[in-house]
Amino acid sequence: MQVFITGGSGLVGSAVVAELLSHGHTVLALARSSSSAAALETAGAQTVRGDLADLDTLRAGAAKADGVIHLAFANDFSSPAALAAAVAEESAALAALGGELTGSDRPLVTVSGTPWIAGRAATEADPLPLDGPIGGRGRSVMAALDLASRGVRSSAVRLPRTVHNQGQGGFAGLLTAMARGAGVSGYPGDGTQRWPAVHALDAAVLFRLALEQAPAGTAWHAVGDEGDAVRDIATVIGRRLGLPVEAVPEETFGPLGPIFAADQPASSAHTRQALGWEPTHPSLLADLENIQP
Ligand SMILES: NC(=O)c1ccc[n+]([C@@H]2O[C@H](COP(=O)([O-])OP(=O)(O)OC[C@H]3O[C@@H](n4cnc5c(N)ncnc54)[C@H](OP(=O)(O)O)[C@@H]3O)[C@@H](O)[C@H]2O)c1
Repeated sequence: MQVFITGGSGLVGSAVVAELLSHGHTVLALARSSSSAAALETAGAQTVRGDLADLDTLRAGAAKADGVIHLAFANDFSSPAALAAAVAEESAALAALGGELTGSDRPLVTVSGTPWIAGRAATEADPLPLDGPIGGRGRSVMAALDLASRGVRSSAVRLPRTVHNQGQGGFAGLLTAMARGAGVSGYPGDGTQRWPAVHALDAAVLFRLALEQAPAGTAWHAVGDEGDAVRDIATVIGRRLGLPVEAVPEETFGPLGPIFAADQPASSAHTRQALGWEPTHPSLLADLENIQP
C-alpha cells in the first residue's frame, strides 16, 4: 500500500515508517520541518511539507494514499490552554483525514492511550475516557471509529503510558528527566501502582497489522507489559543514574501527578489472539538498563 502518515518522525512514528517500508509498503509522510523531512527521507519515505493545521495538505496526502496512519500530536502539556489547543488541532486534522477517506473503504489507523479501569487490567472492550483534559482526544478517536458506518476502515491502536526504545520515551522517560533534574528518582504514592508499557518496535508491528487487517471500527491494545510497578521503574532509573530512589509527593509531578499516581494496567490478550500480534522486544525494565548517567 501507499501509506500517508502523520507523526512519522516521532518516537513511535519512526518505528512505524521502518516497519511499513520493510513489509513492502511505500510511505508518504507529513513533515513540518526540514530536519524531520531529512530524517524521513533518509529512512526511505517520501515527504510532504506541512503541519497538522494544514488541512488541505492532509486531505491531499490522504487522497493519494491507499491507507492513512495518524500519529502526530503536539504533546504540549505546559498549560491547560496549550493542551486544549493541541487536542483541538488534532481533532480537526483527524476529521479532515477521515472526511477524505469517506466512502472509500480505505484504512485509517489512529492512536489513543489505553483506558484505566479501577481494580483490573483494561481491555480492548473498555471505553476511552471522554472527559477531562484529554477527553477531547478520546472523542476524536470515537468520531474516527464511527466513520466505519461511512465507508472508512477505521481503527485505533491504544498505546500504554510508556512506549519506549533504547530506554527512552513515555511516562518512564518523564520520570527519568525529572530524576535528572531533581537529583532523586521519585515516584508518587507507595509505588505499587502499575503502568503498562510497550517497546516502540513492537507497537509499530501492531500499527502495520491494523492497517492491513483490522475490521472497521475496532480498537487494539499495543501492550507488551501489562503493568510494571512504578517503584520498580524508579528503582532502575535511580540505579542507572546513581540517584536515591524515594517516594515523593504527588504534587511534584504537577498536572500529571494524579495520572502518575493511578494504577492503570492494561491487557492485550484480545489483540494478540485476534491479530496474531506478539511482542518480541525488551520489556520496559530491561530497556531502562540502556539509560546512561
Ligand atoms: N510515547 C508514548 O509513550 C505514547 C504513549 C501513549 C500515546 N502516545 C501517542 O502516540 C503518538 C506518537 O507519540 P510519539 O511518542 O511518537 O510522539 P513524539 O516522539 O513527540 O512525536 C510526535 C510526532 O508528531 C509530529 N508533530 C507534532 N506536532 C505536529 C504538528 N503540529 N504538525 C505536524 N506534525 C506534528 C512530530 O513532528 P517533529 O518530528 O517535526 O517534531 C513527530 O513526528 C502521539 O499521539 C502520542 O500522544 C505516545
